[in-house]
Amino acid sequence: MTAQDFIFTYSLDKLPKGNATWQSPSNIALVKYWGKKENQIPANPSISFTLDTCKTTTSIEFQPKDASTEKNNDFDFEFYFEGKKKEDFKPKITTFFERISNYCPYLKNLQLNIHSENSFPHSSGIASSASGMSALALCVMSIEKELNPEISEEHFYKKASFLARLGSGSACRSVKGSLVVWGAHAEIEESSDLYGVPYSEEVHEIFKNYQDTILLVDKGEKQVSSSVGHNLMHGHPFAEQRFNQAHENLSKLRPIFKEGDLKKFIEIVESEALTLHAMMMSSMPYFILMKPNTLEIINKIWKFRETTGLPVCFTLDAGANVHVLYPNKNKVEILEFIKNELIEHCQNKQYIIDNVGIGSNKL
Ligand code: PMV
Repeated sequence: MTAQDFIFTYSLDKLPKGNATWQSPSNIALVKYWGKKENQIPANPSISFTLDTCKTTTSIEFQPKDASTEKNNDFDFEFYFEGKKKEDFKPKITTFFERISNYCPYLKNLQLNIHSENSFPHSSGIASSASGMSALALCVMSIEKELNPEISEEHFYKKASFLARLGSGSACRSVKGSLVVWGAHAEIEESSDLYGVPYSEEVHEIFKNYQDTILLVDKGEKQVSSSVGHNLMHGHPFAEQRFNQAHENLSKLRPIFKEGDLKKFIEIVESEALTLHAMMMSSMPYFILMKPNTLEIINKIWKFRETTGLPVCFTLDAGANVHVLYPNKNKVEILEFIKNELIEHCQNKQYIIDNVGIGSNKL
């Protein structure tokens, strides 16, 4: 498929009125996306676990613009976050609508009221853009379905992921579960730079209900945003090696997913997390998003793993928080370890118990 396949070509004569609500989760990458080309095309393929508890619920009310605004070419919408009108969120949504307006021309003919809320604490530092942008993209697709009821389910979800990608790259991996690949990879059929696809090869039982306990180490505003970080991969001295390594790590994960080899799984996942942060530390300008408590937690996880032999590991996203990953069958012992030893390093002792989920759903 090409981007052209997502251009909406149906009639706009009869504009719809109605509403739609979608819930969409966050996701955590195992092989990281870091670096992009124009139009949110990833510099390397990535794979993530879709999460379950951390999600955004977004409702959209849509109706034809009224006579006073129908002639102008602006997007006409209001945005409410957790019940309150949020003017400061509007520029981000306007940018998103601009990026997708070629593919969704109907947006300029509608008046929209968007209501959104997160299941996780606001500004907890966890990636709300993945759940938020995917939920919004799915709502947009529900409008499209009103205009073209013939749309196939496959196209609906592919285009939702395609649109979500244009909002925030990693958001395209949140539409479906439970392992999602985004970015063309030679060995993974159907993988595409344009949207996320569910990983369709054999996956061992052990990964089916994998746990992710998110330790909220630092809830403050990040000093360097993801988009600035991605851009610093242009001209980065290690960029090419890093992009090749991501391809290789995804190849190595295929037999690991099949056989359930947790030792090798842990090796790749932790190496990916540290490589992501090593890219930040070696870009120009350089920066560090980990905090002292991030390192305290990592060291305690290593020590606990060494003494107990339990298969617990960590990963990081573009921030200081730590995602603690482990199989469901070890949940009792590992949660006890987390509560006894790790949460003291979290801001206000806050953490979120999550697990692998199945993707978005329409309410
Ligand atoms: O989707 P963005 O632009 O917020 O980038 C996210 C990048 C990482 O979370 C660091 C890695 C990933 O693949 O999710």
